[in-house]
Amino acid sequence: MKKIKVKDLEFSVSITADEIDKATQKVAEEINRDLKGKTPLFLVILNGAFMFAADLFKKINIECEVSFVKLSSYVGTKTTSTVRELIGLDEVLKDRYVVIVEDIIDTGITMENTIQKLKHLEAADVRIASLLFKPDAFQKDYPIDYIGMEIPNEFIIGYGLDYDGYARNLPDIYTLIK
Ligand code: IMP
Ligand code: MG
Repeated sequence: MKKIKVKDLEFSVSITADEIDKATQKVAEEINRDLKGKTPLFLVILNGAFMFAADLFKKINIECEVSFVKLSSYVGTKTTSTVRELIGLDEVLKDRYVVIVEDIIDTGITMENTIQKLKHLEAADVRIASLLFKPDAFQKDYPIDYIGMEIPNEFIIGYGLDYDGYARNLPDIYTLIK
């Protein structure tokens, strides 16, 4: 099995680029079906979601727009409960169909906070699309509309996801070896 060392930690491949592509295709097909004629605005949460967003966006075949915001909550391999501000939201969301694009939903705190911040902007509809979801770590109860795949509650890197800023460039996803 392919292994990699990033700083002090060792990881092994858990989701291949091919499996990521299939999961992305599934999400794209669901969005193409559900939001046809709605001209959705994709709101990508940087940094982690940049790679998923680029691949997803190429598979979207309905009229749409894309914009990027920044919001991060991770320090090292542990989530922190304090979520930083949404930076860069300059689109008018009023009456729009908004699809928030995330790399991963872990505890769900980040996404809840993001949705909270969008509330007063009066979007017609706000949906969530996440490549990955950790059901065993999720502490919230809102619905996640589009999920690429569910994964165990383990720390992963690659395909946009980082360990202290590293490993975002890897085309496959790797899991921490304990
Ligand atoms: P949450 O607030 O706990 O749901 O965490 C969400 C954010 O933490 C995601 O957008 C990721 O950027 C980051 N994150 C969550 N799990 C992992 C992981 O296993 N590896 C790297 N980053 C992660
Ligand atoms: Mg993220």
